[in-house]
Amino acid sequence: MIKITGLTKTYPGDVQALRGLDLKIGFGMFGLVGPNGAGKTSLIRILAGLIAPTTGSIQILGHDLSTSKGKQAVKAVLGYLPQELGVYPNLSAREFLDYIAILKGITRSANRQQQIEAVLEKVRLTEVAHRPLKTYSGGMKRRVGIAQAILGQPKLLIVDEPTTGLDPEERIRLRNLLSELAAERTVILSTHIIADISQSCNALAIIGQGRLLFQGSPQQLVEQVQGQVWLIETETQRPEGDFTLIASIQLQDKIQHRVMGNPAAHYRPQPVAPTLEDGYMGLMRQRL
Ligand SMILES: Nc1ncnc2c1ncn2[C@@H]1O[C@H](COP(=O)(O)OP(=O)(O)O)[C@@H](O)[C@H]1O
Ligand SMILES: [Mg+2]
Repeated sequence: MIKITGLTKTYPGDVQALRGLDLKIGFGMFGLVGPNGAGKTSLIRILAGLIAPTTGSIQILGHDLSTSKGKQAVKAVLGYLPQELGVYPNLSAREFLDYIAILKGITRSANRQQQIEAVLEKVRLTEVAHRPLKTYSGGMKRRVGIAQAILGQPKLLIVDEPTTGLDPEERIRLRNLLSELAAERTVILSTHIIADISQSCNALAIIGQGRLLFQGSPQQLVEQVQGQVWLIETETQRPEGDFTLIASIQLQDKIQHRVMGNPAAHYRPQPVAPTLEDGYMGLMRQRL
């Protein structure tokens, strides 16, 4: 579906946002994970054709993004929700979507109305679609953002950090919506929160400082730290040794720590099954 080769992006002032990225993205839900500043938004803006890479090439559904013909073709199959979507606060969701649909070239009125109602239904905003956007919660606004992105039924949907600032219920709701959408198209979900992708993605890439740190399935990421995660109990807040502290819980008379690495035998470490978060931590630990 998408093939990225040798991609670099250097901003003025010699800021190297991407440092030679090779990546293949197939159908379904793809997680693009990395800490703030990793280069996620830069990569997404390049994929969306908004900025040009410094070097490297991108093929999307067989179209070469470096040609203007390829760019046009990609534009026709792409839906994009930017990290910060500006909306007109006084417009209702229905009016806003009408405006976007016209910009996307859906000019036949009957067709447009029908598509708008369909996407409102999809993101479950039909009931409130007449209300001005300034009255919407963060989660509702994000769902309007998804709705505008899927107008025109794009084969590729890219959403940049859509869960930021949402409460847990809205976050889960948005994740479920994205998985639903991924049944019919490729969805690239960028996030710095590993829990956002654990349920739903069949593949993920982790990037850090503009480089690919991992690509594979969630299971493969977990397998990388198999046998490295332990529970130990101590009296002290910060146990020391050849391990990284993941979490600590105060028990009645001692403190239980979840650690990754090689705790000494005197701690009597108990092995535990690693989670996706542990896999991510392991990767970051390796890097340091
Ligand atoms: N327009 C820009 N000009 C200069 N530097 C930028 C610009 N956009 C992003 N950067 C820098 O590029 C790096 C990657 O940023 P970004 O792609 O936004 O990462 P992420 O989305 O993963 O947080 C950061 O160091 C950021 O400060
Ligand atoms: Mg970003």
